[in-house]
Amino acid sequence: MAKYVLQQYKGRLNSRVKISGCKNAALPIMCAATLSTETSTISDIPDLIDVNIMKDILVHLGANIQYDKASKTMTIGYGGNGSFEAPYDMVDKLRASVLSMGVLLATKGMAKVASPGGCPIGARPIDLHLKGFAAMGAEIQQGHGYVMAMASRGLHGATIYLDFPSVGATENIMLAAVTARGETIIDNAANEPEIVDLASFLSSMGADISGAGTDKIRIQGVNKLHAADHTIMPDRIETESFMAIAAILGGRLEIVNAIPEHVKPVTAKLREMGCVVTEEEGCIVVETPENVNLKSVDIKTLPHPGFPTDMQAPFTSLLCKTAGTGIITETVFENRFLHVQELKRMGANIKIDGRTAYIEGGLPLTGTKVKAMDLRAGMAMILAGLFADGQTEIDNIYHIERGYEDLPEKLRSMGVEIARID
Ligand code: EPZ
Repeated sequence: MAKYVLQQYKGRLNSRVKISGCKNAALPIMCAATLSTETSTISDIPDLIDVNIMKDILVHLGANIQYDKASKTMTIGYGGNGSFEAPYDMVDKLRASVLSMGVLLATKGMAKVASPGGCPIGARPIDLHLKGFAAMGAEIQQGHGYVMAMASRGLHGATIYLDFPSVGATENIMLAAVTARGETIIDNAANEPEIVDLASFLSSMGADISGAGTDKIRIQGVNKLHAADHTIMPDRIETESFMAIAAILGGRLEIVNAIPEHVKPVTAKLREMGCVVTEEEGCIVVETPENVNLKSVDIKTLPHPGFPTDMQAPFTSLLCKTAGTGIITETVFENRFLHVQELKRMGANIKIDGRTAYIEGGLPLTGTKVKAMDLRAGMAMILAGLFADGQTEIDNIYHIERGYEDLPEKLRSMGVEIARID
């Protein structure tokens, strides 16, 4: 199994990094493109494990897809036929494959998708997705490890209140609603930037959507969608990860292909710690002056525009370095502290009480063998390894490679010593 071998970074950063297209926008947008038989062209699709799994699933469901990895461009449309079933081995590899349900219901009136089950960061049910489909007229049956949804007379519009502003449920209902009869209203919808990107692509395909980016999304169903060209938004979590890397290394990092508006909660926390963050059009510069000793902060994860749960693990590592005790409360997922046990092996002093972690900053960490417990926990290991004494070996890096494109190359271009060893 491949691993990263990372050396402690010595010196001060003075570099530039370019952010890739956003994984969590690319996945639903790939699904959306298969709502039309015409061929859409989507640019800035990152070459990641998750993207390639989603491609395989959509091909299995009848999509025609060509992906040019060099230019990061994908041509994609529904080719006809294909299965209406996303089997367990596919869903197990990629939870986001449940987004195929909304598309299958819209195009085939029938979807059979393996129950995704739990995952390391939490139980992650899909009850909100299913309640939405049921309100739109789908009959839902569950059993033998599968969820079956049938809408033999097609879907109709409905007013759907989400108990929690779930990103996936909002996306899945949007995908089902764009060609349903009548109007769908999603109340307490997620308002993450990825939802706005999906709505923007669907609108350019001919969908009638308003309110994306707020907590009330209105969708007037249309008969048919057509092809569209789209460029995926920059990955905000990758942007924020590099902002945290800049803070941990000190010096100056210019992050290009970044949208400052998308990363405001992280910008605010870094400024509170003592970093200087400058925002320009499409670019963010993070600087830590040489005489500044970054201080610890308290963080609570929340749905957007609150502090993103995906940055909780990386910030746990950052708070191991800053002066004082930092407190992180995770409110989105119930089991997202898997990185803590690995950080403790490196010498961190972190106490967990329920959903809150208390992190004593300023203790020296020492490099050792650790595991990437999930994608963002993997980024936490990278951050810790950058300031831990000596060498850190990170196993299970397939988690990291699901979501960070060309990470070793990007880090090496910044002067970091990192090797990927098979
Ligand atoms: C998306 O997951 C992202 N994944 C996650 O990124 C991200 O952490 C998460 O949103 C929150 O921002 C993709 O976009 C592919 P949710 P999603 O539905 O849609 C509960 C990463 O590292 N819930 O907003 O699955 C759920 O259990 C990943 O890139 C229900 O109870 O997240 C969780 O506690 C990891 N019932 C909370 O809502 C439901 O039907 C938020 O989940 C759906 C969700």
